[in-house]
Amino acid sequence: MKVIVGTQEEVVAQASQRYVNLLAAKPDAVLGLATGSTPLSLYAELARLCAAGELSFAECSTFNLDEYIGLDGTNEQSYRYFMDHNLFSKVDIKMERTHVPSGFVKDDAEAAQYDALIDEAGGIDLQLLGIGNNGHIGFNEPLTPFTSVTHIVKLTDSTREANKRFFSSLDEVPTHAVTMGIHTVMKARSINLLAFGEAKAEIIKKTVEGRPDIAVPASLLQLHEDVTLYLDRAAAAKLS
Ligand code: PGA
Repeated sequence: MKVIVGTQEEVVAQASQRYVNLLAAKPDAVLGLATGSTPLSLYAELARLCAAGELSFAECSTFNLDEYIGLDGTNEQSYRYFMDHNLFSKVDIKMERTHVPSGFVKDDAEAAQYDALIDEAGGIDLQLLGIGNNGHIGFNEPLTPFTSVTHIVKLTDSTREANKRFFSSLDEVPTHAVTMGIHTVMKARSINLLAFGEAKAEIIKKTVEGRPDIAVPASLLQLHEDVTLYLDRAAAAKLS
């Protein structure tokens, strides 16, 4: 794993450059995208660069990691809404080339069709990840099998608790989500993981310095050949 540490502004500038370079070299690249608080500064910078004419999303396609079960794109808490709002409406991407898993899949067999769609698009060139306090990537909670493809998950209490800040009450946080699996993520040719703030310091230490273990899903990224972590100083504080 490559680890880059700086101020949030500095590491976001470096991560953004990866998109500038990738889309210049391969305009029809396939991007894996993420939601949550963490990618917001990156998405703002990508929108700025796009407006400045320094990168174009016109030919690329995107696949998001996950979505809540039962929420459609008109729901402000849905990840489709988040993406439309925070990135897609601000850049020159073609909406029909943006993909977010459907929150209305009925079973894992239907959910797994998302992997087939990614494969048909040529596979993900660069997957963006955040990290949960428990090490989840996407909604792959601890002990998710290494071989998992896109599937339906029951959210852990800690994840629902962490995400309730976006809802009016805990009861409103969906109990299930659909997420790319660990295998889906590991198939990406390159992976960027962003983490900011001291609340992530402990899990970042386990991710980078712990033994790869399905108990800490992000630690499995050690087994991928091209992963870069972009950390602010607070998130990196416990690395030795
Ligand atoms: P956050 O979420 O970016 O809002 O911290 C990350 C995650 O849970 O994957």
